[in-house]
Amino acid sequence: MDVNSTLEIVTGLTAAQKRLPSKLFYDDNGTALFRKITEAPEYYLTTCEKEILRKNADFILDQMENRPFNLIELGAGDGSKASLLIKKAMTRPNFRSYYAYDISKKALEELEANLEKSFPDLEPHLVIADYTTSLEELDIPSQESNIFLFLGSSIGNFSPSQASLFLEKLSHKMKDGDFLLVGFDLKKAERILYKAYNDSQGLTAEFNLNLLLRLNREYGANFNIENFKHVEIYNPGLGAMESYLLSLKEQTVYFEDLNLEIHFQQDEMIHTELSYKFSVEDIENLVKDTSLKALSFLFDHKRYFVSVLFHRRSLH
Ligand SMILES: C[S@@+](CC[C@H](N)C(=O)[O-])C[C@H]1O[C@@H](n2cnc3c(N)ncnc32)[C@H](O)[C@@H]1O
Repeated sequence: MDVNSTLEIVTGLTAAQKRLPSKLFYDDNGTALFRKITEAPEYYLTTCEKEILRKNADFILDQMENRPFNLIELGAGDGSKASLLIKKAMTRPNFRSYYAYDISKKALEELEANLEKSFPDLEPHLVIADYTTSLEELDIPSQESNIFLFLGSSIGNFSPSQASLFLEKLSHKMKDGDFLLVGFDLKKAERILYKAYNDSQGLTAEFNLNLLLRLNREYGANFNIENFKHVEIYNPGLGAMESYLLSLKEQTVYFEDLNLEIHFQQDEMIHTELSYKFSVEDIENLVKDTSLKALSFLFDHKRYFVSVLFHRRSLH
């Protein structure tokens, strides 16, 4: 793990409200578990977003008119959603290439294999990168127009102010004529949200607890995951699902590689993820002080999810 992540772990676990950054979910195990989560019947997000992409692929690609263009994805995962666009793009003479950035090596290896199988003629560019720390440095192709993709409601893992800042930074990577497609999970009945993050197979629980196993593997920590429990709640004040790991008893965990001891009270919780849910108004508020303008709101038929197509406001 890099120095930034180590610092975030130490700062997070020594804070009054213990926390760990959600980007740490995605080691090899976490990446494999996340793929299983997307196939769980309760996890509606993937099904809904795929429906939108399937239905609107031509409309999205038509924004490029005849200009040569690339698809650029941040946090690509296995690329199964982008593939719906790539499939259509491959039939267009002005499509050039697909660039994917992800923090997980395993995700990019799977993505490479999937693309090779489905699109043997595509020469993709796959790059390991952390978009929370190195967005400014990402080497984005500048010769052609670009459609940026930020899917899976990953935007909901930021607080609203962080999300606005992230979108503003991303807009600085865009030229006139570029577009950005962002997936937002919409506010809905709490019971539907609750089931999506507490699936009956226990996959989300395993995904959350894997964070502690990762710390054991990579820092010589001695977490016993039997002594922790996955807790997922909807916070109506924030409009967000919140993930925690709850300490089932008073205990001390030792990180051998960091020579660090962390003490837990019984019922103390480590905050591991925020997944904000949005209304159309929330989305408009998110971009109101940025350089982005929403052009189209594309909904699935249940109105559980929306993909929003943005472009840069004209600078003139
Ligand atoms: C919630 S998954 C979404 C995957 C895919 N976009 C989808 O919609 O199914 C998040 C993906 O982003 C990657 N990721 C998470 N945090 C990241 C970061 N800070 N920088 C780059 N990639 C990140 C993970 O490895 C994972 O593949």
